[in-house]
Amino acid sequence: MTVTAPKGYAAIITAAGRGTRAGGDEPKQWRLLKGRPVLAHTLDRFAGFDRIIVTVHPDDMGQAIEHFAGRATIITGGDTRAASVRAALNSLDGSAITHVLIHDGARPLVGDAVISGVIGALQAGAPAAAPALPVTDALWRGEDNTVTGTAPREGLYRAQTPQGFSLAQISRSHRDHPQDAADDVELARKSGIPVTITPGSEDNLKITWPGDFTRAERILEGTMDIRMGNGFDVHALGPGDHVWLCGIQIPHTHGLIGHSDADVGMHALTDAIYGALAMGDIGRHFPPSDPQWKGADSAIFLRHAADLAREKGFAFGNADVTLICEMPKIGPHASAMQARLAQIMTLDPERISVKATTSERLGFTGRGEGIAAIATCTLMKG
Ligand code: CTP
Ligand code: MG
Repeated sequence: MTVTAPKGYAAIITAAGRGTRAGGDEPKQWRLLKGRPVLAHTLDRFAGFDRIIVTVHPDDMGQAIEHFAGRATIITGGDTRAASVRAALNSLDGSAITHVLIHDGARPLVGDAVISGVIGALQAGAPAAAPALPVTDALWRGEDNTVTGTAPREGLYRAQTPQGFSLAQISRSHRDHPQDAADDVELARKSGIPVTITPGSEDNLKITWPGDFTRAERILEGTMDIRMGNGFDVHALGPGDHVWLCGIQIPHTHGLIGHSDADVGMHALTDAIYGALAMGDIGRHFPPSDPQWKGADSAIFLRHAADLAREKGFAFGNADVTLICEMPKIGPHASAMQARLAQIMTLDPERISVKATTSERLGFTGRGEGIAAIATCTLMKG
């Protein structure tokens, strides 16, 4: 999920530093976090902004263009963080942008709640807003590993980004105070702009020290995108001598009626996958009005849904299918069905369950007029 920014909002991502404290062979914003550069994660968080400006070091221009051309305006930063921000602000001169959120490229885990908190405060009329967390630990002074004094923590906050401002006001602050500053709030305050404190988050860490990479990876793992979908299908029984259920042909006194092979179990499972992806149902992807699907092997549908899930970056958690009928008996075929579905979906059979129930001779399934199936599946990304 990302926050959709109001019209006129731009995000400035500062990434021109050298990351000396983090060590490593390359600056921290280019090191990989779960296989992607830190800065790529940061940009993802601002995907809902029409305009994104990234400040990069001249040495990093090549890889910045390679990764982000088309997604962001890439400009050369300065020798200090404030100089980098100033360059980004200057690039917006004369644009239709009214507000900017200025964010550290080294904070790749900023969440929707933090970003929308800042936007919300600006929309409510605050001239400036920035996230922070109240200090909870006791504060000491120390020297040579010895406590030399304590300090009251009341009223102290740990500042985070993104920090939000009116473009005109923060540009003026930067012009009036050309020296470096810890952040843009410091400059805004020098110009007398009141800054509203919005909720920060412990997850919104700034990667600073070598150990922060492991911490960030652990947080990313915890923010896995998990989806669940359900599917339900019914086919009528009619003349015939076999049914197809979950990819297995079973001799029966009747057949299932349908446009394709009428494999009610596979249809429910396919719909569960489309449901988890929020991408409609079988009818949308394979219209029954299209003659090419007449008598089709339903494996085509299931494989399409499974491939689509993987294209979208998801892996399967599990799938569970329940067939509802009095006859045929499913038990003897359940493990063959499980193996066949696993083969079609290229999935470990242990992640697929096929089971059945009767409806105690009640209703259409009880009277043997048709067979119903329900299915659920979970998809995971992260
Ligand atoms: N930054 C910038 N231009 C600079 C210095 C810093 O755009 N001249 C950016 C950094 O890339 C980072 C953010 O500002 O995303 C916060 O700065 P910091 O955490 O201090 O990063 P570095 O300066 O790169 O790290 P260090 O101080 O350890 O060298
Ligand atoms: Mg620095």
